[in-house]
Amino acid sequence: MARKSPDKKYVHSQWSSHWAFILAASGCAVGLGNVWRFPYLAGENGGGAFVLVYLLTVALIGIPIMMAEVMLGRRARQSPVNAMRTLAATEGTSRHWQYLGWLGIVGGFVILSYYSVIAGWTLAYIFRVGSGQFALSTGDSVRNIFAEFVGDPERLLAWHTLFMLMTAGVVARGVQSGLEQANRVMMPALFVLLLVLIGYAMHTDHFGAGLAFLFSPDFDRLTGAGVIAAMGQAFFSLGLGMGAIMIYGSYMPKTSSIVSATFTVALTDTLVAVLAGVAIFPLVFANGLAPAGGPSLVFQALPLAFGQMPGGAFFGALFFILLVFAAWTSSISLMEPAVAWLVERHGFIRWKASAWVGVAAWLLGIVSILSFNRWAFAFDFLGARKSSGLFDLLDILTANIMLPVSGILICVFSGWVMRRAHSREELDIRFPRGYNVWLALVKYVSPVLVFLVLLNLLNVFNLF
Ligand code: TRP
Repeated sequence: MARKSPDKKYVHSQWSSHWAFILAASGCAVGLGNVWRFPYLAGENGGGAFVLVYLLTVALIGIPIMMAEVMLGRRARQSPVNAMRTLAATEGTSRHWQYLGWLGIVGGFVILSYYSVIAGWTLAYIFRVGSGQFALSTGDSVRNIFAEFVGDPERLLAWHTLFMLMTAGVVARGVQSGLEQANRVMMPALFVLLLVLIGYAMHTDHFGAGLAFLFSPDFDRLTGAGVIAAMGQAFFSLGLGMGAIMIYGSYMPKTSSIVSATFTVALTDTLVAVLAGVAIFPLVFANGLAPAGGPSLVFQALPLAFGQMPGGAFFGALFFILLVFAAWTSSISLMEPAVAWLVERHGFIRWKASAWVGVAAWLLGIVSILSFNRWAFAFDFLGARKSSGLFDLLDILTANIMLPVSGILICVFSGWVMRRAHSREELDIRFPRGYNVWLALVKYVSPVLVFLVLLNLLNVFNLF
């Protein structure tokens, strides 16, 4: 039941059911990360071996941390900063733990700023693909159309603005009538669309080549840097570490099972990423495109493929609609922690808080927009050539640094600082020894693995 905060007027919201939480958290997890980021990272890092490392990371690190993050949120029933402050007070430890909440709010905000830019591309491509602009195009013409599109900052700004408005519009309506309703409509639609597209990819001659690329690991092509990318991707895709899952957990009814919800969400997310790869790589190979195409992969491979297929304009538009749905249900989760904090802590009404956060993230997004044109510069990272300067740096800073650091801190707090009686009670794992397995994972396995991978990162930047 919603508990009152010190401010008497404030009542913390709650999802209407266990399933509403599962849908919303799946909406948070399944996003551009699955359909846009996962395939291009897998492409840049050699395919199968990357996928294998990714799956291991989800199992050993992602799921235990996700359980911990949901658990912290639900126990405190507040937005991340206040949640960490209250939890730290209950455990009789330092107030500085509130900075873990801050890390989440700030990181989520930065991700939202560039996420909305890419989501804007997907909006634009619904109309481009749907209008048949790519009919019978070639690799070169698709590349040129894309280059011309991202080379035009005003156009990118218009789409970024629209997407940010869509996001703020849902968040402004609140937890049950905004977030919950959006997920209830978009998530089922997304699944249906994805299945239709896989059916489509199965009819290309290169279905086998696509599968082989994704599922036969070639370890020679996996670098230490590729391992970092896989881990960063696992955090990004599950939506961990940035307060989103924590705040969604804080809206979860006390009666629902954290374990079953977490497994359902993590499995759904992983399944969608793998299925997106299954839908996309056959098209990449069928059209002679390079799998290591970077962020533009999906925006070139797919229009090209759809341009050559019967009914391609229709299915292509469907695909980009799917991507917009996926992005939309994720971007609302990125905006929610900051908005909830303004409402809870500073007494803002919801729509004003959403407007402020939306405007601020919109402004920061302009940095990413300019990274693709006026301010573009290139550098090497993870053995891949990154050519979109500050955009790539913001992405690396958040996904590869802030998310894992926050992940380690979540492990330390829930495994080492929190009293066992508290975490045991909140998690309420019925499975025999389940609690002990979880505890061992968050105390030792996950933080140590994440730490080792981060050490490797220092190497990538030649800091040692
Ligand atoms: N998981 C989303 C995706 O795959 C993005 C996302 C939503 C996210 N909320 C997050 C990433 C919180 C990191 C942290 O597209």
